[in-house]
Amino acid sequence: MEKHLIALQLSHLLGEEYDREWVYNLLETPKQSDHGDIAFPCFQLSKILRKSPAAIAEELASRLKHETIEKVQTAGGYLNIFLNQTFIAEHTLKQILSEKSSYGSNTNGKNKTVVLDMSAPNIAKPFSMGHLRSTVIGNALANLAEKSGYTTVKINYIGDYGTQFGKLLAAYKRWGKEELVKADPLTELTRIYVQFHNEAKEDPRLIGEGREWFKKLENQDEEAVKLWKWFKEESLEEFENIYRLLGVSFDLTRGEAYYNDKMEETIQLLIEKDLLTESEGAQVVRLDEEGMPPCLIKKSNGTSIYATRDLTAAVDRYQNYQFDEALYVVGHEQSLHFQQVKHVLSKMGFTWADSVKHISFGMMLQGGKKMSTRQGKTVLLKQALEEAVAQAQSNIEAKNPSLNNKEETTKQVGVGAVIFHDLKHDRRNDVEFSLDDMLTFEGNTAPYLQYAYVRTCSILNKGTFELKNAAASLNDEDAWPLIKQLRLFPETVKQAYSSYDPSKLAKYLLDTAKSFNQYYASKRILAEDHLNQRLTLIFCFSIVLKEGLSLLGIETPEEM
Ligand code: ARG
Repeated sequence: MEKHLIALQLSHLLGEEYDREWVYNLLETPKQSDHGDIAFPCFQLSKILRKSPAAIAEELASRLKHETIEKVQTAGGYLNIFLNQTFIAEHTLKQILSEKSSYGSNTNGKNKTVVLDMSAPNIAKPFSMGHLRSTVIGNALANLAEKSGYTTVKINYIGDYGTQFGKLLAAYKRWGKEELVKADPLTELTRIYVQFHNEAKEDPRLIGEGREWFKKLENQDEEAVKLWKWFKEESLEEFENIYRLLGVSFDLTRGEAYYNDKMEETIQLLIEKDLLTESEGAQVVRLDEEGMPPCLIKKSNGTSIYATRDLTAAVDRYQNYQFDEALYVVGHEQSLHFQQVKHVLSKMGFTWADSVKHISFGMMLQGGKKMSTRQGKTVLLKQALEEAVAQAQSNIEAKNPSLNNKEETTKQVGVGAVIFHDLKHDRRNDVEFSLDDMLTFEGNTAPYLQYAYVRTCSILNKGTFELKNAAASLNDEDAWPLIKQLRLFPETVKQAYSSYDPSKLAKYLLDTAKSFNQYYASKRILAEDHLNQRLTLIFCFSIVLKEGLSLLGIETPEEM
């Protein structure tokens, strides 16, 4: 906040050719408090102006004045700016008190729409860790977009079509049992699917059967369609349980199959634009100029594929929502696919192709290896979540055996831990799944943050304070780091969204909670003097913490 202001002031002092952006990027946050709150290094200017950095710093120091600035010092070619703590404290706390949970919002996305393609599990298969990542990252981005004034459309593009369903139908016809599927659909369907793969290695007739059943499905054969629909319903019901646990909802749940009868239009358009060429019997769009392998549109046996559906879905979404951004929250492995889709959309003449963005992320690892769903070695997400909740329960049991509302709280803590553990990492990196790490109260975890929130609730319940005159000067030295953090919240929200990286917000919340804990440790919070101010500060912190966690999709219990 103040950084922007100071960048503006400095650029005024320096003259037009040094714009605010340029100055802003040079500003630093000093590590030592005796170097002020914001520092401006004068070395670059020194080269341009052919004057010593010290002389430039001196000159700027004598001219830089603003109500938010307490004093300006120079040292070693730096301009060290000390902010007016009283002024900023008052201003910040007043703002938080009046805006409450809307503090931190902005209007960057006013009248704009973002469509998010997120979660997108495949029916008849377990909900994988990759789908969890897509769900929680997508959900946080949608929340951040809304906080920035965008209209969001969250779409769950269920994987419900493709040749694999031919195999699944064939497998079911051979070995499937209705009761078993009903009892535990995803496990049972995966089991017979894996069995199909294994036996097909020995018995090639199975491949033929799979092909037959896919043809039946394509031709709307009654039995094939009925079974497929049933698998889909059962799968969706299980996914729904996971979404309920995670607290995530969608504006639209629409599978790949929805586009079956719309793809011909896409293919026609590709022909009209003279983009389709034949390659080994298949229809492709060549992307030689882009330095990429061709994008496969139609296989030699006439079936259309993944890319064709995505092209069709993108066009359909643009027609429906005229989005300003379309974010596809999908793992790294599909980078090439999304680059191809984007290039083909541009070649088709859609100018909005530029607003299609692949928000890619790394893998979830266990013991350094990918958590795999192949070979029937399924690491079920549901299981992992349940384990997290169980472990949260024993941790809480040990800490606070007499807690009311234990079940709800352990759920909030266990699930929150899993979500935060994912979101605190830069999304592009791989993440090691470790229940112990995500659930400790001391580490960089959701329970640590939730516990800080619980602490604010208990302090605020003990003290009585009056909000209206409380924003008055807070002359606690120790409060300054916390106030500065609270001040950064709006900026953090903007940055987390513009870089599509929720970890910026996660890290900010950890830093802010650390400042709070330091403040808390250094003060007798409930002492008489300045009680009002201290409690107001804590109240403001609790607002920011709760809102920040809620943007990440994490709940805050009041006791734990
Ligand atoms: N169902 C796909 C998978 O699990 C992900 C779909 C991602 N979204 C998309 N529009 N292609 O691999």
